[in-house]
Amino acid sequence: MIYFDQAASSHPKPPEVGEAMIHALNEMGANPGRGDHRLAKEAADIISETRKIASRLFGCSDPKKVLFYQNATAALNQAIKGMPWVNGNHVIATTFEHNSIRRPLESLKKQYGVDVTYVPWYDHEDDFIEHVKQAITHDTKLIAMTHASNVTGAVMPIERIASAARQHQIPLLVDASQTAGHKHLHMKNMGINMMAFPGHKGLLGPQGIGMLMVEGDLDLQPLNHGGTGSFSEDPDQPSHWPEKLESGTLNTPGIAGLHAALKFYETRNHENVPRETLLTQTLFKGLKKIEGVTCYGPDEHVEQMPIVAFNVLDIPSQEIAMVLDSHYDIAVRAGLHCSPLTHETLGTTEQGIVRASLGRYNTEDEVEQFLQAIKEITESYNLL
Ligand SMILES: Cc1ncc(COP(=O)(O)O)c(C=O)c1O
Repeated sequence: MIYFDQAASSHPKPPEVGEAMIHALNEMGANPGRGDHRLAKEAADIISETRKIASRLFGCSDPKKVLFYQNATAALNQAIKGMPWVNGNHVIATTFEHNSIRRPLESLKKQYGVDVTYVPWYDHEDDFIEHVKQAITHDTKLIAMTHASNVTGAVMPIERIASAARQHQIPLLVDASQTAGHKHLHMKNMGINMMAFPGHKGLLGPQGIGMLMVEGDLDLQPLNHGGTGSFSEDPDQPSHWPEKLESGTLNTPGIAGLHAALKFYETRNHENVPRETLLTQTLFKGLKKIEGVTCYGPDEHVEQMPIVAFNVLDIPSQEIAMVLDSHYDIAVRAGLHCSPLTHETLGTTEQGIVRASLGRYNTEDEVEQFLQAIKEITESYNLL
């Protein structure tokens, strides 16, 4: 199979990811931080080591503020709902948001009467920045923004947003689900206060593990309360991190897998343009040449994540994905990609979009086969 659905979940993983998970299951097995025996300590060590490597790789000053959740969605919910909301507060987001930001924000609207502005993308970055600045009011308590669109791969000017947020002392939450593993990220240098992503996309880690990192002295209230393996006599949740925000047994095998994935990522973190980005450029150029194919997203010369969004004529995107799967053994994703406002902006709510997303292990030969398949499909629909 040609797997071009890497933005949903990366496949395959580096072999050491699975090996680390099997080792954690078979050889460690114990509950991290819940005992003083050797196996519990080993499990706790791999978790603390993963916090350290993540804090180093992603520029989060305090490893204790590297938190584990089951996915990016849970991490984003903790970041958003953990803030002290009151009626009349205001949040700025964009029309590119995945539902994992939009739905928690919509729930704040209902629960607390928080007001949310979704700023659309404008053709020029300066216009977008200007509109974000204009949206800021005295009541703005958070800017929550995806780092890259999961539909088109367009990258947001996070550093410029961070600088505007800093001027008004508004915390910035970044959803790095589509950039972590593809793009160098450094919270401190970029001015990001909170950042969330899953392990299973560009980082090539396993499903079931995601991270939230907090930079500086921003405080959050826990969404869950329970056992932390520490201060058990106290009926209240401990006040120190990470225990304050992590209740219950952690996913040690998932974290061990993520640890291996982060170590693998560390070996290629220096690459200026990752190979999946180069392949994406070839794919994008090739698709643009096929008559009847419409491509969406930034133009060729603008930085973009390894995602290509397109449609064939006016054929429903799901139909194209089905033909690719059944006739060509090619996996892509179609539909709205959990980001309905993006489709409102692009005018693709009815048709959806075919998304081909590439990763570390995809090849030039696969890109060529994919282009040939789309050419054949377009020609056959043209004949109907
Ligand atoms: C931009 C973005 N944010 C958040 C998520 C949610 O990730 P998860 O399903 O791992 O929680 C995704 C997943 O597709 C995404 O693309």
